Amino acid sequence: MDKNKEVKPEWLEKGFADEPVPAGTDLKAEIRRLCQEKNAVILAHYYTEADVQDVADIVGDSLALAQQAARTDADIILMCGVHFMGETCKLLCPAKKVLLPDLGATCSLAESCPPEEFAAFVRRYPDHKVISYVNTSAATKAVTDVVVTSGNARQIVESFPPSQPLIFGPDRNLGAYINAVTGRQMLLWDGACHVHERFSARRVEELKRRFPEAKVLVHPECRGEVVRLADKVGSTAALLRYAAESEADTFLVVTESGILHEMLRRAPQKKFIPVPPEEGGACNECGYMRLVTLRKMYNALRCEWPAVEVDPAIAEAAVRPIRRMLEISARLGL
Ligand code: 13P
Ligand code: SF4
Repeated sequence: MDKNKEVKPEWLEKGFADEPVPAGTDLKAEIRRLCQEKNAVILAHYYTEADVQDVADIVGDSLALAQQAARTDADIILMCGVHFMGETCKLLCPAKKVLLPDLGATCSLAESCPPEEFAAFVRRYPDHKVISYVNTSAATKAVTDVVVTSGNARQIVESFPPSQPLIFGPDRNLGAYINAVTGRQMLLWDGACHVHERFSARRVEELKRRFPEAKVLVHPECRGEVVRLADKVGSTAALLRYAAESEADTFLVVTESGILHEMLRRAPQKKFIPVPPEEGGACNECGYMRLVTLRKMYNALRCEWPAVEVDPAIAEAAVRPIRRMLEISARLGL
């Protein structure tokens, strides 16, 4: 039976297959069985739900996930993250099937950079090289010289001679942070991530008064007023490393709360306190990452759908800056 035919028409509109499974199905075991049967690999970001991370082959930050995609010999990649991550996999592995459990898992930061507007902005500065954060659509990458992630942005910016004018998009907060630490004056696109924008200095200071011994871990997509309070600013992977290696045993975590799962796995004896967003609540979550569920993963593997596709007209231009990023990162040992 062609399982694609069985499921596609019903779920096509939604962009995900959330079909109920028989009671008692062990979803994790079934997902692993399908991976074995179909030679599929599961890549998951640290911001996804704990049970998604637990069933994945590799859990990583955006840089590690791109590096893993580039080197896998699996026939199918199930990308448990958001759409631009699936696009990155597809661009690096055009012959493979790249599945995303939910095509609606977009990214507010990528969406804050409409490709035509970004292309028009870039055209106004023909002497500038263009650096784009990986959180962008393939069409934005197609007008980019080098892609960066939060794990290599500083080093890649520093690899350009100081006299080379640069454009950085789309995250104004990451761009401002890189400008501050490198002394560059890159032109910044005015985009942001709605999750990281919600953190405030007030909330961090409030918790710091209650836990004065705590180290403050901040993702550079946060606003400058928050970054300035950090003991460590870094990608999810860098924050995880710092938390595990630091002698401190209490941390205020100023990023998406999915990361707490891996923090606690690596250092179960330590205390990780999620900083709530300015408007309150327990912690800060990315609704797009939370669209990835075990049931959608299972159905995606079973039906080999939904698959991420990239317009062939832009694929070649879009993959070039990703490959450049991987080359520079490999050269720098990142
Ligand atoms: P990193 O994975 O580079 O830490 O970035 C976080 C992010 O926003 C992913 O969407
Ligand atoms: Fe995009 Fe922000 Fe969600 Fe990361 S946390 S996927 S940048 S919306």
